[in-house]
Amino acid sequence: MTAQGPAASAPAVNDLSSFWMPFTANRQFKNAPRMLVGAQGMHYTTADGRQVLDGTAGLWCCNAGHGNPRIVKAIQDQAGEMDYAPAFQMGHPAAFALANRLAGMLPGDLNHVFFTNSGSESVDTALKIALAYHRMKGEGSRTRLIGRERGYHGVNFGGISVGGITNNRRFFGTLLSGVDHLPHTHLPDRNAFSRGQPEHGAALADDLERLVALHGAETIAAVIVEPMAGSTGVLMPPKGYLERLRAICDRHGILLIFDEVITGFGRLGSAFACEHFGVLPDIVTTAKGLTSGTVPMGAAIVREGIHDAFMSGPENAIELFHGYTYSAHPLACAAALATLDVYQDDGLFARCADLAPHWEERVHGLKGLPHVIDLRNMGLIAGIELEPKPGKPTERAFTAFLKCYEAGLLIRTTGDIIALSPPLIIDRDQIDRIFDTLGDVLKTLD
Ligand SMILES: Cc1ncc(COP(=O)(O)O)c(C=O)c1O
Repeated sequence: MTAQGPAASAPAVNDLSSFWMPFTANRQFKNAPRMLVGAQGMHYTTADGRQVLDGTAGLWCCNAGHGNPRIVKAIQDQAGEMDYAPAFQMGHPAAFALANRLAGMLPGDLNHVFFTNSGSESVDTALKIALAYHRMKGEGSRTRLIGRERGYHGVNFGGISVGGITNNRRFFGTLLSGVDHLPHTHLPDRNAFSRGQPEHGAALADDLERLVALHGAETIAAVIVEPMAGSTGVLMPPKGYLERLRAICDRHGILLIFDEVITGFGRLGSAFACEHFGVLPDIVTTAKGLTSGTVPMGAAIVREGIHDAFMSGPENAIELFHGYTYSAHPLACAAALATLDVYQDDGLFARCADLAPHWEERVHGLKGLPHVIDLRNMGLIAGIELEPKPGKPTERAFTAFLKCYEAGLLIRTTGDIIALSPPLIIDRDQIDRIFDTLGDVLKTLD
Protein backbone atom coordinates (compact mmCIF):
# COMPACT_ATOMS: atom_id res chain seq x y z
CA MET A 1 0.00 0.00 0.00
CA THR A 2 2.44 2.62 -1.12
CA ALA A 3 2.25 5.45 -3.56
CA GLN A 4 5.14 7.80 -3.98
CA GLY A 5 5.31 10.58 -6.49
CA PRO A 6 8.09 12.57 -8.06
CA ALA A 7 6.49 16.03 -7.73
CA ALA A 8 8.85 18.21 -5.69
CA SER A 9 6.13 19.89 -3.62
CA ALA A 10 4.03 16.81 -2.90
CA PRO A 11 4.83 14.95 0.31
CA ALA A 12 5.89 11.35 -0.21
CA VAL A 13 3.32 9.03 1.29
CA ASN A 14 4.13 5.54 2.40
CA ASP A 15 1.03 4.73 4.40
CA LEU A 16 -2.42 5.22 2.98
CA SER A 17 -4.33 3.66 5.85
CA SER A 18 -5.37 6.68 7.91
CA PHE A 19 -7.31 8.65 5.32
CA TRP A 20 -10.83 7.20 5.13
CA MET A 21 -11.65 8.30 1.62
CA PRO A 22 -15.12 9.65 0.74
CA PHE A 23 -17.34 7.86 -1.77
CA THR A 24 -14.44 5.54 -2.56
CA ALA A 25 -13.84 1.80 -2.51
CA ASN A 26 -11.03 2.35 0.00
CA ARG A 27 -9.46 -1.11 -0.08
CA GLN A 28 -9.54 -1.31 -3.85
CA PHE A 29 -8.03 2.19 -4.19
CA LYS A 30 -5.29 1.61 -1.63
CA ASN A 31 -4.23 -1.55 -3.41
CA ALA A 32 -3.75 0.39 -6.65
CA PRO A 33 -3.73 4.13 -5.84
CA ARG A 34 -4.43 6.83 -8.39
CA MET A 35 -2.58 9.86 -7.05
CA LEU A 36 -2.88 13.37 -8.47
CA VAL A 37 -0.11 15.80 -7.57
CA GLY A 38 -0.66 18.81 -9.82
CA ALA A 39 -3.26 20.56 -11.94
CA GLN A 40 -2.94 23.21 -14.62
CA GLY A 41 -5.44 24.32 -17.23
CA MET A 42 -7.24 21.25 -18.59
CA HIS A 43 -4.88 18.67 -17.09
CA TYR A 44 -3.99 16.88 -13.92
CA THR A 45 -0.47 15.59 -13.30
CA THR A 46 -0.30 12.13 -11.78
CA ALA A 47 2.25 10.91 -9.24
CA ASP A 48 3.96 8.94 -12.00
CA GLY A 49 4.32 12.10 -14.05
CA ARG A 50 1.56 11.60 -16.60
CA GLN A 51 -0.81 14.29 -17.89
CA VAL A 52 -4.50 13.40 -17.54
CA LEU A 53 -7.13 15.38 -19.42
CA ASP A 54 -9.83 16.50 -17.01
CA GLY A 55 -13.13 15.35 -18.49
CA THR A 56 -15.06 16.06 -15.31
CA ALA A 57 -13.91 19.48 -14.03
CA GLY A 58 -12.76 17.68 -10.89
CA LEU A 59 -16.17 16.85 -9.46
CA TRP A 60 -18.25 19.09 -11.72
CA CYS A 61 -16.66 22.11 -10.10
CA CYS A 62 -13.51 23.49 -11.79
CA ASN A 63 -15.41 25.36 -14.50
CA ALA A 64 -12.56 27.84 -15.02
CA GLY A 65 -10.00 25.05 -15.36
CA HIS A 66 -7.09 24.54 -13.00
CA GLY A 67 -4.51 26.97 -11.66
CA ASN A 68 -6.00 30.09 -13.20
CA PRO A 69 -3.46 32.76 -12.22
CA ARG A 70 -6.05 35.41 -11.40
CA ILE A 71 -7.90 33.13 -9.00
CA VAL A 72 -4.68 31.84 -7.45
CA LYS A 73 -3.43 35.39 -6.85
CA ALA A 74 -6.72 36.54 -5.34
CA ILE A 75 -6.61 33.69 -2.83
CA GLN A 76 -2.94 34.31 -2.02
CA ASP A 77 -3.49 38.05 -1.54
CA GLN A 78 -6.52 37.52 0.67
CA ALA A 79 -4.65 34.99 2.84
CA GLY A 80 -2.01 37.62 3.49
CA GLU A 81 -4.48 40.42 4.14
CA MET A 82 -7.13 38.85 6.34
CA ASP A 83 -7.22 35.11 6.87
CA TYR A 84 -10.54 34.89 8.65
CA ALA A 85 -13.37 37.11 9.81
CA PRO A 86 -16.46 36.01 11.70
CA ALA A 87 -19.72 36.46 9.80
CA PHE A 88 -21.94 36.40 12.89
CA GLN A 89 -22.69 40.01 13.91
CA MET A 90 -19.59 41.11 11.95
CA GLY A 91 -18.96 41.69 8.28
CA HIS A 92 -16.22 42.12 5.70
CA PRO A 93 -16.58 43.94 2.38
CA ALA A 94 -15.91 41.01 0.03
CA ALA A 95 -18.92 39.11 1.39
CA PHE A 96 -21.28 41.94 0.51
CA ALA A 97 -19.61 42.53 -2.85
CA LEU A 98 -19.95 38.84 -3.73
CA ALA A 99 -23.60 38.68 -2.65
CA ASN A 100 -24.40 41.74 -4.78
CA ARG A 101 -22.56 40.21 -7.69
CA LEU A 102 -24.50 36.94 -7.44
CA ALA A 103 -27.82 38.72 -7.09
CA GLY A 104 -26.98 40.52 -10.33
CA MET A 105 -26.27 37.23 -12.11
CA LEU A 106 -29.50 35.46 -11.15
CA PRO A 107 -32.76 36.16 -12.93
CA GLY A 108 -35.83 37.84 -11.45
CA ASP A 109 -35.81 38.85 -7.82
CA LEU A 110 -33.43 36.10 -6.65
CA ASN A 111 -31.58 38.80 -4.77
CA HIS A 112 -30.54 37.59 -1.33
CA VAL A 113 -27.61 35.30 -0.71
CA PHE A 114 -26.89 33.07 2.28
CA PHE A 115 -23.34 31.69 2.19
CA THR A 116 -22.41 28.10 3.04
CA ASN A 117 -19.36 25.91 2.42
CA SER A 118 -20.74 23.17 0.20
CA GLY A 119 -23.65 21.99 -1.86
CA SER A 120 -24.91 19.84 1.00
CA GLU A 121 -25.00 22.83 3.30
CA SER A 122 -26.69 24.96 0.65
CA VAL A 123 -29.44 22.37 0.36
CA ASP A 124 -30.02 22.10 4.09
CA THR A 125 -29.96 25.89 4.32
CA ALA A 126 -32.59 26.18 1.57
CA LEU A 127 -34.83 23.58 3.21
CA LYS A 128 -34.57 25.37 6.57
CA ILE A 129 -35.33 28.74 4.98
CA ALA A 130 -38.40 27.22 3.28
CA LEU A 131 -39.72 25.78 6.55
CA ALA A 132 -39.03 28.96 8.52
CA TYR A 133 -40.53 31.16 5.79
CA HIS A 134 -43.91 29.49 6.03
CA ARG A 135 -43.80 29.78 9.77
CA MET A 136 -42.96 33.48 9.54
CA LYS A 137 -46.01 33.88 7.31
CA GLY A 138 -48.28 32.15 9.81
CA GLU A 139 -48.45 28.90 7.84
CA GLY A 140 -46.51 26.76 10.30
CA SER A 141 -48.40 23.64 9.21
CA ARG A 142 -46.33 23.59 6.03
CA THR A 143 -43.63 21.22 7.23
CA ARG A 144 -43.50 18.64 4.47
CA LEU A 145 -40.68 18.56 1.95
CA ILE A 146 -40.97 16.95 -1.47
CA GLY A 147 -37.93 15.64 -3.35
CA ARG A 148 -37.62 13.31 -6.31
CA GLU A 149 -36.50 9.75 -6.89
CA ARG A 150 -32.90 9.67 -8.13
CA GLY A 151 -32.38 13.17 -6.77
CA TYR A 152 -28.98 13.96 -5.29
CA HIS A 153 -28.83 16.82 -2.84
CA GLY A 154 -25.63 16.12 -0.99
CA VAL A 155 -24.99 14.10 2.10
CA ASN A 156 -26.46 15.96 5.07
CA PHE A 157 -29.64 14.68 6.67
CA GLY A 158 -31.94 17.14 4.92
CA GLY A 159 -30.35 16.47 1.57
CA ILE A 160 -30.41 12.68 1.86
CA SER A 161 -34.01 12.79 3.04
CA VAL A 162 -35.29 14.72 0.02
CA GLY A 163 -32.82 12.93 -2.23
CA GLY A 164 -33.90 9.73 -3.88
CA ILE A 165 -30.98 7.36 -3.49
CA THR A 166 -31.60 3.91 -2.12
CA ASN A 167 -28.26 3.51 -0.34
CA ASN A 168 -29.01 6.52 1.86
CA ARG A 169 -32.23 4.89 2.98
CA ARG A 170 -30.53 1.50 3.35
CA PHE A 171 -27.70 2.69 5.58
CA PHE A 172 -28.77 5.80 7.46
CA GLY A 173 -32.06 4.98 9.07
CA THR A 174 -35.37 6.72 8.83
CA LEU A 175 -34.03 10.18 7.90
CA LEU A 176 -36.32 13.25 8.15
CA SER A 177 -40.00 12.51 8.61
CA GLY A 178 -42.64 14.19 6.51
CA VAL A 179 -40.81 13.80 3.22
CA ASP A 180 -42.29 12.45 0.00
CA HIS A 181 -40.93 12.05 -3.51
CA LEU A 182 -41.92 12.70 -7.09
CA PRO A 183 -41.07 10.02 -9.66
CA HIS A 184 -37.78 10.44 -11.50
CA THR A 185 -37.84 11.53 -15.13
CA HIS A 186 -35.57 8.90 -16.68
CA LEU A 187 -37.59 7.18 -19.44
CA PRO A 188 -35.03 5.30 -21.53
CA ASP A 189 -37.73 3.37 -23.39
CA ARG A 190 -39.17 6.58 -24.80
CA ASN A 191 -36.32 9.07 -24.68
CA ALA A 192 -33.11 7.14 -25.44
CA PHE A 193 -30.54 9.04 -27.51
CA SER A 194 -32.22 12.41 -26.97
CA ARG A 195 -30.27 15.53 -27.81
CA GLY A 196 -30.90 18.18 -25.18
CA GLN A 197 -34.27 18.04 -23.45
CA PRO A 198 -36.17 14.81 -24.12
CA GLU A 199 -39.64 14.93 -25.68
CA HIS A 200 -41.47 12.70 -23.24
CA GLY A 201 -42.17 13.01 -19.53
CA ALA A 202 -43.57 16.48 -18.79
CA ALA A 203 -46.65 14.86 -17.30
CA LEU A 204 -44.51 13.30 -14.56
CA ALA A 205 -44.65 16.72 -12.90
CA ASP A 206 -48.39 16.21 -12.41
CA ASP A 207 -47.55 13.67 -9.74
CA LEU A 208 -47.13 16.70 -7.49
CA GLU A 209 -50.90 17.15 -7.72
CA ARG A 210 -51.28 13.60 -6.44
CA LEU A 211 -49.02 14.37 -3.47
CA VAL A 212 -50.98 17.56 -2.79
CA ALA A 213 -54.21 15.56 -2.84
CA LEU A 214 -52.67 12.96 -0.54
CA HIS A 215 -51.06 15.24 2.05
CA GLY A 216 -52.94 18.53 1.65
CA ALA A 217 -51.25 21.59 0.18
CA GLU A 218 -51.37 23.28 3.59
CA THR A 219 -48.81 20.73 4.88
CA ILE A 220 -46.26 21.13 2.08
CA ALA A 221 -43.44 23.67 2.40
CA ALA A 222 -41.28 23.08 -0.65
CA VAL A 223 -40.36 20.94 -3.61
CA ILE A 224 -36.68 20.51 -4.41
CA VAL A 225 -35.31 19.20 -7.71
CA GLU A 226 -32.14 19.44 -9.72
CA PRO A 227 -33.14 21.14 -12.98
CA MET A 228 -30.78 18.62 -14.58
CA ALA A 229 -29.94 15.70 -12.32
CA GLY A 230 -26.19 15.18 -12.57
CA SER A 231 -24.86 12.85 -9.92
CA THR A 232 -27.44 10.10 -10.39
CA GLY A 233 -26.70 9.71 -14.05
CA VAL A 234 -27.23 12.90 -16.09
CA LEU A 235 -31.02 13.02 -16.35
CA MET A 236 -32.29 15.90 -18.46
CA PRO A 237 -35.63 17.55 -17.69
CA PRO A 238 -38.28 16.58 -20.26
CA LYS A 239 -39.63 19.47 -22.31
CA GLY A 240 -42.27 21.33 -20.30
CA TYR A 241 -41.57 19.45 -17.05
CA LEU A 242 -40.02 22.29 -15.03
CA GLU A 243 -42.70 24.71 -16.21
CA ARG A 244 -45.41 22.35 -14.98
CA LEU A 245 -43.73 21.96 -11.60
CA ARG A 246 -43.58 25.73 -11.29
CA ALA A 247 -47.27 26.10 -12.15
CA ILE A 248 -48.38 23.47 -9.65
CA CYS A 249 -46.23 24.99 -6.89
CA ASP A 250 -47.75 28.40 -7.63
CA ARG A 251 -51.24 26.97 -7.51
CA HIS A 252 -50.69 25.59 -4.03
CA GLY A 253 -48.37 28.11 -2.37
CA ILE A 254 -45.46 25.63 -2.37
CA LEU A 255 -41.90 26.94 -2.72
CA LEU A 256 -39.84 25.58 -5.60
CA ILE A 257 -36.14 25.04 -4.95
CA PHE A 258 -33.74 24.40 -7.82
CA ASP A 259 -30.58 22.65 -6.72
CA GLU A 260 -28.08 24.19 -9.13
CA VAL A 261 -24.94 22.91 -7.46
CA ILE A 262 -23.93 21.36 -10.79
CA THR A 263 -25.89 23.44 -13.29
CA GLY A 264 -24.84 26.81 -11.85
CA PHE A 265 -22.02 28.85 -13.35
CA GLY A 266 -22.23 28.11 -17.00
CA ARG A 267 -22.46 24.35 -17.29
CA LEU A 268 -25.44 24.54 -19.67
CA GLY A 269 -24.19 27.61 -21.52
CA SER A 270 -26.14 30.11 -19.37
CA ALA A 271 -25.14 31.37 -15.94
CA PHE A 272 -27.82 29.22 -14.29
CA ALA A 273 -30.24 26.52 -15.41
CA CYS A 274 -33.20 28.58 -14.25
CA GLU A 275 -32.21 31.20 -16.81
CA HIS A 276 -31.52 28.51 -19.41
CA PHE A 277 -34.95 26.92 -19.02
CA GLY A 278 -36.80 30.17 -18.35
CA VAL A 279 -38.30 28.92 -15.09
CA LEU A 280 -37.87 31.02 -11.96
CA PRO A 281 -37.57 29.05 -8.72
CA ASP A 282 -38.00 30.55 -5.25
CA ILE A 283 -34.60 29.43 -3.99
CA VAL A 284 -31.47 28.40 -5.89
CA THR A 285 -28.73 26.35 -4.25
CA THR A 286 -25.18 26.56 -5.58
CA ALA A 287 -21.58 25.59 -4.71
CA LYS A 288 -18.86 23.98 -6.88
CA GLY A 289 -18.44 26.43 -9.80
CA LEU A 290 -18.93 29.40 -7.47
CA THR A 291 -15.19 29.29 -6.72
CA SER A 292 -14.32 26.96 -9.58
CA GLY A 293 -13.65 24.40 -6.88
CA THR A 294 -10.65 26.29 -5.48
CA VAL A 295 -11.96 27.03 -1.98
CA PRO A 296 -15.03 25.36 -0.50
CA MET A 297 -18.07 27.63 -0.79
CA GLY A 298 -21.75 27.40 -1.48
CA ALA A 299 -24.78 29.65 -1.36
CA ALA A 300 -28.55 29.57 -1.13
CA ILE A 301 -30.06 32.45 -3.08
CA VAL A 302 -33.64 33.45 -2.31
CA ARG A 303 -36.30 35.66 -3.82
CA GLU A 304 -37.13 39.06 -2.44
CA GLY A 305 -40.46 38.08 -0.87
CA ILE A 306 -38.97 35.17 1.05
CA HIS A 307 -36.14 37.25 2.44
CA ASP A 308 -38.45 40.12 3.30
CA ALA A 309 -40.81 37.88 5.23
CA PHE A 310 -38.00 37.42 7.76
CA MET A 311 -37.34 41.15 8.14
CA SER A 312 -40.47 42.05 10.05
CA GLY A 313 -39.70 41.40 13.74
CA PRO A 314 -37.79 43.57 16.22
CA GLU A 315 -34.60 44.97 14.68
CA ASN A 316 -32.37 43.47 17.35
CA ALA A 317 -33.68 39.93 16.71
CA ILE A 318 -31.65 37.45 14.67
CA GLU A 319 -34.01 36.80 11.78
CA LEU A 320 -32.72 33.40 10.67
CA PHE A 321 -31.30 31.14 13.35
CA HIS A 322 -28.73 29.59 11.07
CA GLY A 323 -25.14 30.01 9.87
CA TYR A 324 -21.72 28.38 9.65
CA THR A 325 -18.40 29.38 11.20
CA TYR A 326 -17.06 29.60 7.67
CA SER A 327 -20.05 31.31 6.01
CA ALA A 328 -18.60 33.96 3.68
CA HIS A 329 -15.03 32.95 4.54
CA PRO A 330 -12.67 35.66 3.25
CA LEU A 331 -10.59 33.23 1.17
CA ALA A 332 -13.73 31.78 -0.41
CA CYS A 333 -15.13 35.25 -1.13
CA ALA A 334 -11.85 36.30 -2.76
CA ALA A 335 -11.78 33.10 -4.79
CA ALA A 336 -15.40 33.52 -5.87
CA LEU A 337 -15.02 37.16 -6.89
CA ALA A 338 -11.96 36.33 -8.96
CA THR A 339 -13.71 33.29 -10.47
CA LEU A 340 -16.71 35.37 -11.51
CA ASP A 341 -14.30 37.86 -13.11
CA VAL A 342 -12.68 35.05 -15.07
CA TYR A 343 -16.06 33.68 -16.19
CA GLN A 344 -17.05 37.13 -17.37
CA ASP A 345 -13.80 38.38 -18.90
CA ASP A 346 -13.02 35.11 -20.64
CA GLY A 347 -16.64 34.65 -21.77
CA LEU A 348 -16.72 31.09 -20.48
CA PHE A 349 -20.51 30.65 -20.36
CA ALA A 350 -20.79 31.75 -24.00
CA ARG A 351 -17.85 29.52 -24.81
CA CYS A 352 -19.77 26.59 -23.35
CA ALA A 353 -22.79 27.45 -25.51
CA ASP A 354 -20.59 27.82 -28.60
CA LEU A 355 -18.89 24.46 -28.07
CA ALA A 356 -22.11 22.61 -27.19
CA PRO A 357 -23.08 21.66 -30.80
CA HIS A 358 -19.66 20.09 -31.45
CA TRP A 359 -19.85 18.38 -28.07
CA GLU A 360 -23.30 17.02 -28.95
CA GLU A 361 -22.05 15.63 -32.27
CA ARG A 362 -19.18 13.88 -30.56
CA VAL A 363 -21.39 12.48 -27.77
CA HIS A 364 -23.83 10.98 -30.24
CA GLY A 365 -20.98 9.72 -32.38
CA LEU A 366 -20.59 7.00 -29.73
CA LYS A 367 -23.90 5.45 -30.80
CA GLY A 368 -23.46 1.89 -31.93
CA LEU A 369 -20.35 1.19 -29.82
CA PRO A 370 -20.53 -1.96 -27.68
CA HIS A 371 -22.85 -1.81 -24.65
CA VAL A 372 -23.95 1.81 -25.23
CA ILE A 373 -27.70 1.87 -24.52
CA ASP A 374 -28.26 5.61 -24.23
CA LEU A 375 -26.50 8.91 -24.89
CA ARG A 376 -27.69 12.27 -23.61
CA ASN A 377 -26.21 15.74 -23.62
CA MET A 378 -26.80 19.37 -22.78
CA GLY A 379 -24.34 22.27 -22.63
CA LEU A 380 -20.98 20.70 -21.78
CA ILE A 381 -22.49 17.66 -20.07
CA ALA A 382 -22.85 14.13 -21.36
CA GLY A 383 -24.34 10.96 -19.98
CA ILE A 384 -23.25 7.70 -21.59
CA GLU A 385 -25.27 4.80 -20.31
CA LEU A 386 -23.84 1.31 -20.62
CA GLU A 387 -25.69 -1.92 -20.33
CA PRO A 388 -24.75 -3.39 -16.93
CA LYS A 389 -22.91 -6.71 -16.90
CA PRO A 390 -25.34 -9.43 -15.85
CA GLY A 391 -25.05 -9.84 -12.08
CA LYS A 392 -22.24 -7.26 -11.88
CA PRO A 393 -23.76 -3.79 -12.00
CA THR A 394 -21.24 -0.88 -12.10
CA GLU A 395 -18.32 -3.11 -13.12
CA ARG A 396 -18.39 -2.29 -16.81
CA ALA A 397 -18.43 1.48 -16.33
CA PHE A 398 -15.78 1.32 -13.62
CA THR A 399 -13.53 -0.65 -15.95
CA ALA A 400 -14.03 2.11 -18.51
CA PHE A 401 -13.01 4.64 -15.85
CA LEU A 402 -9.81 2.75 -15.05
CA LYS A 403 -8.91 2.28 -18.71
CA CYS A 404 -9.58 5.94 -19.52
CA TYR A 405 -7.37 7.00 -16.63
CA GLU A 406 -4.57 4.79 -17.93
CA ALA A 407 -5.11 6.35 -21.36
CA GLY A 408 -4.83 9.88 -19.93
CA LEU A 409 -8.48 10.87 -19.47
CA LEU A 410 -10.44 11.45 -16.28
CA ILE A 411 -14.11 10.49 -16.52
CA ARG A 412 -16.67 9.88 -13.81
CA THR A 413 -19.06 7.01 -13.40
CA THR A 414 -22.22 6.55 -11.45
CA GLY A 415 -23.65 3.06 -11.62
CA ASP A 416 -23.15 2.06 -15.25
CA ILE A 417 -23.45 5.63 -16.49
CA ILE A 418 -20.42 7.66 -17.55
CA ALA A 419 -20.76 11.38 -16.83
CA LEU A 420 -18.65 13.96 -18.61
CA SER A 421 -18.47 17.64 -17.63
CA PRO A 422 -15.12 19.20 -18.57
CA PRO A 423 -13.89 22.64 -17.53
CA LEU A 424 -15.49 25.33 -19.71
CA ILE A 425 -12.03 26.36 -20.98
CA ILE A 426 -11.87 23.19 -23.06
CA ASP A 427 -11.19 23.56 -26.81
CA ARG A 428 -12.43 21.55 -29.79
CA ASP A 429 -9.29 19.44 -30.03
CA GLN A 430 -9.56 18.48 -26.40
CA ILE A 431 -13.23 17.58 -26.89
CA ASP A 432 -12.12 15.36 -29.76
CA ARG A 433 -9.49 13.77 -27.54
CA ILE A 434 -12.08 12.98 -24.88
CA PHE A 435 -14.35 11.17 -27.32
CA ASP A 436 -11.56 9.51 -29.29
CA THR A 437 -10.10 8.10 -26.07
CA LEU A 438 -13.46 7.09 -24.64
CA GLY A 439 -14.55 5.53 -27.94
CA ASP A 440 -11.36 3.45 -28.08
CA VAL A 441 -11.88 2.31 -24.50
CA LEU A 442 -15.54 1.40 -25.06
CA LYS A 443 -14.50 -0.84 -27.96
CA THR A 444 -12.33 -2.88 -25.58
CA LEU A 445 -14.97 -3.55 -22.92
CA ASP A 446 -16.37 -7.02 -22.57
C1 LIG B 1 -27.19 18.74 -7.17
C2 LIG B 1 -26.23 18.59 -6.04
N1 LIG B 1 -26.56 19.04 -4.83
C3 LIG B 1 -25.73 18.95 -3.79
C4 LIG B 1 -24.49 18.39 -3.93
C5 LIG B 1 -23.57 18.27 -2.75
O1 LIG B 1 -22.53 19.14 -2.84
P1 LIG B 1 -21.28 18.97 -1.85
O2 LIG B 1 -20.60 17.71 -2.23
O3 LIG B 1 -20.48 20.21 -2.11
O4 LIG B 1 -21.81 18.95 -0.46
C6 LIG B 1 -24.09 17.92 -5.18
C7 LIG B 1 -22.75 17.31 -5.38
O5 LIG B 1 -22.44 16.74 -6.38
C8 LIG B 1 -24.98 18.02 -6.26
O6 LIG B 1 -24.66 17.55 -7.47
